[in-house]
Amino acid sequence: MHFSPEFWSIFSFLPLFVPSLRDPEYPSSTPNPPGGNGTEHDALWLAASPPKYPSPWMDGSGEWATAYKRAQAFVSQLTLLEKVNLTTGVGWQGEDCVGNTGEIPRLGFPALCLQDSPLGVRNADYVSAFPAGGSVAASFDREIWYQRGFEMGSEHRKKGVDVQLGPVVGPLGRSPEGGRNWEGFSPDPVLSGIAVAQSVRGIQDAGVIACTKHFIMNEQEHFRQVAEWNGYGYVFDEAISSNVDDVTMHELYLCKPFADAVRAGTGSIMCSYNQINNSYGCANSYTLNHLLKGELGFQGFVMSDWQAQHSGVSSSLAGLDMTMPGDTLFNTGYTFWGTNLTIAVVNGSVPMWRLDDMATRIMAAYYLVGRDEASVPVNFNSWTTDTFGYQHAFAKLDYGVVNEHVDVREEHGRTIRDHAARSTVLLKNTGNTLPLTGKEKFTAVFGEDADNNPWGPNGCSDRGCDNGTLAMGWGSGTSNFPYLVTPLTAIQNEVLFNGGIIQSETQNWAYSQIMSLAGQASTSIVFVNADSGEGYIGVDGNIGDRNNLTLWRNGEALIQNVTAYCNNTIVVIHSVGPVLLTPYYDNDNVTAILWAGLPGEQSGNSIADVLYGRVNPSAKLPFTFGRTREDYGTDILYDLNNGENAAQDDFVEGIFIDYRHFDRAGLDPIYEFGYGLSYSTFAYSGLQVEKHAVGPYMPTNGTTKAAPVLGNYSRDLADYQFPSNLSAVPFYIYPYLNSTDAADASDDPSYGSDDFIPEGARDGSPQPRVAAGGGPGGNPRLYDVFFTVRATIQNTGSVVGEEVGQLYVSLGGPNDPKVVLRNFNKLSIAPGASATFSADITRRDLSNWDPVQQNWVITSYPKTVFVGSSSRKLPLSQRLSI
Ligand code: NOJ
Repeated sequence: MHFSPEFWSIFSFLPLFVPSLRDPEYPSSTPNPPGGNGTEHDALWLAASPPKYPSPWMDGSGEWATAYKRAQAFVSQLTLLEKVNLTTGVGWQGEDCVGNTGEIPRLGFPALCLQDSPLGVRNADYVSAFPAGGSVAASFDREIWYQRGFEMGSEHRKKGVDVQLGPVVGPLGRSPEGGRNWEGFSPDPVLSGIAVAQSVRGIQDAGVIACTKHFIMNEQEHFRQVAEWNGYGYVFDEAISSNVDDVTMHELYLCKPFADAVRAGTGSIMCSYNQINNSYGCANSYTLNHLLKGELGFQGFVMSDWQAQHSGVSSSLAGLDMTMPGDTLFNTGYTFWGTNLTIAVVNGSVPMWRLDDMATRIMAAYYLVGRDEASVPVNFNSWTTDTFGYQHAFAKLDYGVVNEHVDVREEHGRTIRDHAARSTVLLKNTGNTLPLTGKEKFTAVFGEDADNNPWGPNGCSDRGCDNGTLAMGWGSGTSNFPYLVTPLTAIQNEVLFNGGIIQSETQNWAYSQIMSLAGQASTSIVFVNADSGEGYIGVDGNIGDRNNLTLWRNGEALIQNVTAYCNNTIVVIHSVGPVLLTPYYDNDNVTAILWAGLPGEQSGNSIADVLYGRVNPSAKLPFTFGRTREDYGTDILYDLNNGENAAQDDFVEGIFIDYRHFDRAGLDPIYEFGYGLSYSTFAYSGLQVEKHAVGPYMPTNGTTKAAPVLGNYSRDLADYQFPSNLSAVPFYIYPYLNSTDAADASDDPSYGSDDFIPEGARDGSPQPRVAAGGGPGGNPRLYDVFFTVRATIQNTGSVVGEEVGQLYVSLGGPNDPKVVLRNFNKLSIAPGASATFSADITRRDLSNWDPVQQNWVITSYPKTVFVGSSSRKLPLSQRLSI
């Protein structure tokens, strides 16, 4: 076994941590355009992350008390080797799942199976393809998020998965071009926070551990991993650094949404590929030890993204609890942990209490969600859909049945159809073009996006192409479609049922056929799309991130060709996020526009339900449709800007992304965040604010208990040798040693020095508690309810409909956004009837992060509450007296 040079490296922490762009000495506006060439640097350039040690040990707070006790009892029985085995993956393609820990045969404890994705079970057959997170965000519907989570969780459980690698709130969606934004929910942290919390609850109630990812500032694909991007011809030696100030970290990226995932009990969190202020996400003691485990009181385990670990001892001391997939790089057979973690504990580099904490956190998550009762053996294989294959795929060992083809879909297709329809946003509907009756004289359907992928729905590995209708993006955040109902099929069924005429042209470059058909149609429905995905795949020159915000596959020309000949053209957009509607949205011949996101397997049926009025649209935009790409104010860093060193991605826009930016810059979007029409109309009136008696904010104080140590261990390396009766699987990662000489066993000639260990990192004595912390999700007093806000919403139209009442707050300070979303509720209202909208405002909703006090404060600036139907349609408002 071998230590890579990085194993011994500890990140050099410069004394600087940028406290805040609000700080007078830092500019509050952008000094350099993002993606600048690095010649003129801003305050964040080369920002550094301060050391924070020791790594907090779990204390069983919140709902974790029982799980903690059971985990401690379990871990107390384990040997050192068994504990190490729990923390370390067996290597890429070592077992059936995309990630697998070692097992504990002595106690009959199976290897843990970790499997993507945030929208279904990846790399498996007989599973469902759910709508993407970025789509269901538009439902603004807590029940949909919970139910989707529960159904995904139950499919994972029945396939034998212990940890579902989802949901996603990193990326949050800083730049609309971000390749994986659609895996997450929304660039608004409150919408994302509520959606992630409901998803976590759903997944975990189904008996599977949720892994909320990627922590944190993982906002683009470009330069996320060195080897991957070296492969694309970019020469650099460390992953990109997302540089951020303390206020932005707290107010936009951490609390919410990650705080909400932690408060909802997420059992696991995946640390990210990127660096944060020039320290890697999986060895960043500030973000992992201080922010996540200290301030947010996270009780579960931190797992690395795949190959995102770059050091051994130092990542353990910085708060990493599980390494995935276990080898340093795929299939090297080398590991930072495994053997090396065994040595590091024996020689004292990593204290025993830290290994105990790692193992306890993993087991506590296991008990928290009831894995001890819910577990079934893994019955699928990530590396083949065949029935027979190798148990150890990379080593090609142990041939036998690896896939039992267990159908775990139940009736999920129905909810998928319903959820996707209720997540479809109606953007334009001139003269009540929609809903259609099905009795239109001549319906024409246009666009590749209406039709099948000629290679079949799963014809491109990990959905890495844009052929046919788009129902999910590409990358690890995917699942295999059991079927994909195309829009053309569903519309055809509808029209034929009604005895009408339907014809289609689904080749986007067949200009003359398109124009000829459009000239005959009384109703044209045009399907267009825009795709993106994860950085290991490039599609049409887009390496993960989109290169622009235009439509794919000649979409604009298609719309133009149809609208030139048909004055009743309905445009349906399947996309990973915003696209530029500028060329056509206000064309009079475009009579309706729908944003249908990435709807999953029932795509066609869902859109038909909306088009033909079985579902009255109620979804609202989870992002802004701007007029130009530049209007967004943020973009991907597409070019290296720091020579061959880590690219510096300075988040100089602070908390001003999406609608917050448009509002501040005074830019008119085409369709703003929160916007969405219905087949009915609604009126808002009668705002009432009820104030609650709330005690003062109490910073958490005192100290923790000392770190528990669970059992004894031998310091003799002879006790950790490969068992003589074990026939080792090649390239498999084990906790054992192959020599009693540590330098030999670790294959590291410089073995022996521990002067890299940061001060205090091994100190297991009682530690001061974090003032802004105190429980999972942060200081419990942050969740005190200050106000309950009520308003009347009347359905002024003629059909029953659902309306999402939205509550925004102005925090009133010169550096605060004009308004920020704080709550929402969806109400179903009969025509002519009224319903009462009601939503709470908590202390956290009214607070700003104070980088000097290192706590949340309610400033003396005037606070105002707004209620309405979008971020820009807020007819009701009232000053809050605090
Ligand atoms: C890398 C991705 O970033 C992560 O989201 C995924 O869970 C792992 N690969 C495993 O596939």
